[in-house]
Amino acid sequence: MKLPVSLFVFALLFSFLLATSAHTHENFLQCLTLHSGNDSISKVIYTSSNSSYSSVLESSIRNTRFSTPSTPKPLVIVTPLGVSQIQEILSCAQKHGMQVRVRSGGHDYEGLSYVSPVPFAILDMINLRNISVDVENSFAWVQSGATLGELYYKIAEQSKTLGFPAGVCPTIGVGGHFSGGGYGTILRKYGLAADNVIDAHLIDVKGRFLDRKSMGEDLFWAIRGGGGASFGVIVAWKIKLVPVPSTVTVFTVNKNLEQNATKLLHRWQYVADKFDKDLFIRVLLTGVNSSQEGKKTVQAAFNSLYLGGKDKLLPLMQESFPELGLVSEDCTEMSWIQSILYFAGFPSGQSLDVLLNRTLTVISYKAKSDYVENPIPEAGLEGIWQRFYEKEAESAVLILSPYGGRMSEISESAIPFPHRAGNIYKIQYLVYWAEEGTEATERHVNWIRRLYAYMAPYVSKSPREAYINYRDLDIGTNNEGNTSYRQASIWGTKYFKNNFKRLVHVKTVFDPTNFFRNEQSIPPLSH
Ligand code: FDA
Repeated sequence: MKLPVSLFVFALLFSFLLATSAHTHENFLQCLTLHSGNDSISKVIYTSSNSSYSSVLESSIRNTRFSTPSTPKPLVIVTPLGVSQIQEILSCAQKHGMQVRVRSGGHDYEGLSYVSPVPFAILDMINLRNISVDVENSFAWVQSGATLGELYYKIAEQSKTLGFPAGVCPTIGVGGHFSGGGYGTILRKYGLAADNVIDAHLIDVKGRFLDRKSMGEDLFWAIRGGGGASFGVIVAWKIKLVPVPSTVTVFTVNKNLEQNATKLLHRWQYVADKFDKDLFIRVLLTGVNSSQEGKKTVQAAFNSLYLGGKDKLLPLMQESFPELGLVSEDCTEMSWIQSILYFAGFPSGQSLDVLLNRTLTVISYKAKSDYVENPIPEAGLEGIWQRFYEKEAESAVLILSPYGGRMSEISESAIPFPHRAGNIYKIQYLVYWAEEGTEATERHVNWIRRLYAYMAPYVSKSPREAYINYRDLDIGTNNEGNTSYRQASIWGTKYFKNNFKRLVHVKTVFDPTNFFRNEQSIPPLSH
């Protein structure tokens, strides 16, 4: 039987690619073991023939959308124990044309730290998670493989009145989080995690170990919000710890549509970014069953942290948001570290040790983000409610996080994260599903895309801004192997606005051959 020519060419190309990747893979491994000398890198190399390969690969995968049998898997995973092993990995990868994806906590929404369309290796920072806290001088050094939970735990172990303004979920990795900005419940008082980074250790494409002084202010600027994946391997961060009172207050007040949620949310938009900096009230919107049999409604959960006691919070709320009707019984006083557990969803009385648990809840999801500069009218909000009644929205949530305060005081170009004054709040759209298969994925992803299309008139425009830590490949990607400035600026200006140009400049200086790349990495100018 004769094969059609196109099939023959395809079969030839496919076997060539297989042979090349096997070759690359073997040469890369050989290079690593040859160059490591006495240092035992072979103990931290995992290939598919190794019995713990799958468990190491899956250890920090949070999104099952990128953990299916057809998801491309790494040829090699290396979990370096120190700087010299990272240098060896980078050197061998360049020598043998192996793409490297750096992974810290693995929480990337599009799986970019552990999936690639071309043969690749994962450089996993799991073994580099040392944290040292200097209470006297209010700073800490934290390695990229540590989680936020581990960082918060370490700070709380040594001080009841120091904290750090980073994210809500304790299993997030420091490496990806700080390099994309990183915000949590005290952003209105202290800004982002990246705003509070004062030094860093990075290994660049040439294998040089650099600190703030030796990398220079351009590169140090770029890695604080420009996405670390484009510039090198960030090994550790020096962070400024911030004062927190010994008593803080939390509350969650739930209101559904029958309880005036539309009007309350509408009002919230006029006050949320203007409150005292010590007050953070975010809103979580979900579809829930109504008290009327068989009917659905939407619930708005007003979920808050106040940096102080309720004696001060209650009059403040009475003055600035009386419509919510907050009463003393809604409020719970606790320490700042307990508020971390509260926002992470742990029941009260839980031991702080849960912060050290890296075990993840794994489910499929898709997320997107938007910035809101003008309050959405009630009719606009009602259009959102309609979408919550659709079947795909059963496990959907919209999280509205207020800005203002310190966020408005920091200039748009201080670090690459540009979403500052003028933003009332950010919306994170999330849809989860448990069903397997592409049909279920498509239905849910289409739901969130339809909602995103509906929101266009109500959110920032030209560019329609997005948060890089809520990675969304729908807003544009690079072409593998041929990354152009023009194509990258489509998604780049959404994440970084005018800062995109400076990021491209830094990339061109520090990684001109575009070694550190992914679907949304900053391109160097020659590409
Ligand atoms: P991961 O390891 O997947 O890395 C993300 C990106 O950074 C990848 O491109 C990776 O290559 C690169 N990278 C990682 N380590 C690097 C290193 N050492 N050097 C160079 N590049 C590196 N965000 C937020 O601001 N506030 C919040 O409250 C939350 N909450 C939240 C909850 C949950 C459940 C998830 C899944 C995510 C969030 N996020 C968030 C988003 C989170 O900040 C974002 O996904 C971070 O990039 C995750 O960092 P990881 O190190 O875990 O990811």
